[in-house]
Amino acid sequence: MTNSAPAGKVVDGNLVICKEPQVSCWDHGLLYGYGLFETMRVYGGRIFVLKAHLQRLLSSCDQLGIGTGLSLDDLVNLAGKYVAESEMSNVALRLTITRGDFHRGIPPGLFITSRQLTYLPGHYEQGFSAVTSPVRRNPTSPLVYHKTLNYMDSLLALEEARGAGAQEALFLNTNHRLAEGAISNLFFVRDGIIHTPAVTCGLLSGITRKTVIDLAAAMGYQAIEGEYAMKNLLAAEEAFLTNSLMEVMPLVKVDGIPINHGKPGRVTEDLLQGYRALTLKEEPLTI
Ligand SMILES: Cc1ncc(COP(=O)(O)O)c(C=O)c1O
Repeated sequence: MTNSAPAGKVVDGNLVICKEPQVSCWDHGLLYGYGLFETMRVYGGRIFVLKAHLQRLLSSCDQLGIGTGLSLDDLVNLAGKYVAESEMSNVALRLTITRGDFHRGIPPGLFITSRQLTYLPGHYEQGFSAVTSPVRRNPTSPLVYHKTLNYMDSLLALEEARGAGAQEALFLNTNHRLAEGAISNLFFVRDGIIHTPAVTCGLLSGITRKTVIDLAAAMGYQAIEGEYAMKNLLAAEEAFLTNSLMEVMPLVKVDGIPINHGKPGRVTEDLLQGYRALTLKEEPLTI
């Protein structure tokens, strides 16, 4: 599959597969970044934890005043249809919702696209490095709690991190507490206990974050959410990042300082195995 895989546009509740779906130049998604998206991973033709993603999307639509008129079941069916019709097996799947423009009679747009996965076995063997961004996550902004189309803070930080030879950027919040990665949630292990910044620190409540917290408990680990400083991360026994595409990625260096001597840790590897086992277990999507 190439990155020119067919895209889907939802028109009057129906999926239309086409090469280049159009968005209006008046759509507030384009003009102001007023919109939302979800990124999901397809494993062997099944969309992992699809309903959790769609529930987050619909809840954000409600809170931000974006009315698609579509229900959870509608979205489940549309996503499943796209995957089945485009014969996707192992890809990154994206649902994008734009605000439209009520005054011009432009309805919210819903697009479904896919692309190849980019994380490789070597990334998990070596782990990722991160650089701390000078920009802060703002816990008083509604934007940090939703997966909105406003990604420029993250993209600019990521570009800077990549320019410095790292693979992810980390954000502190305006109270100097750890928040999250540019495109991931952050975890670290101290005295055998798994820690992750609380959502109130100003971060996206990741679907993978929640899956990993539940998985950790099921595997007998203690996992807690709280407010942490950078020194807590740097003193950790090990650390890792999560998102729907990267799963559980070892974080082995922050601002040039090694964590766990620059090697992936045992708890991280344990959770990655456990997470991958979950992705195999999920019931096939019924359309
Ligand atoms: C800023 C940010 N935080 C956290 C995450 C992790 O979210 P999820 O686990 O739902 O993919 C992402 C995913 O892209 C993200 O962009």
